[in-house]
Amino acid sequence: MAVRKVLRIGHPLLLEKAEPVKEFNTKSLNALIEDMFDTMDAMNGAGLAAPQIGVSQRVVIFGVEANPRYPEVEAVPTTILINPRIEPKDTGMEDGWEGCLSVPGLRGLVPRYTRIHYRGFDQFGNPIDREAHGFHARVVQHECDHLDGILYPLRIKDLRQFGFEEELFGTVHDM
Ligand code: NI
Repeated sequence: MAVRKVLRIGHPLLLEKAEPVKEFNTKSLNALIEDMFDTMDAMNGAGLAAPQIGVSQRVVIFGVEANPRYPEVEAVPTTILINPRIEPKDTGMEDGWEGCLSVPGLRGLVPRYTRIHYRGFDQFGNPIDREAHGFHARVVQHECDHLDGILYPLRIKDLRQFGFEEELFGTVHDM
């Protein structure tokens, strides 16, 4: 287990489409997931995708605990999601502030589907099939975008709503 270096925007691997996982519950997959949690926790992130630590595989993790000090941050169940698929429930979208461990110090206002249905597998190959809305849905869309080489700045509609956290307001976790 180890905290791994997080690649930052500009690294070409972050723009690549990641490969599907073919075998579950292997030593290397479990070690990857352990490193991802160590790295996400060390950096106080809400989520992390494998390409962010240099592994081009379709693996994301996320999770946010409710914190009474930040009542505006909604809890998100701690999840390992492999080979994910997302379908919007309807066309409704909403803007929200996002950050990313690969885009340190910055925040941007990003439109995301409000309600989604997502599917995938955990590290043992057990299916995951959930509906999500709001911040939970936002985190899943942000993380799964990483697997297709999309960083959130590419989704910002108005680049005036993009800048350094210290110059903006809004408390969000990096993803
Ligand atoms: Ni991110």
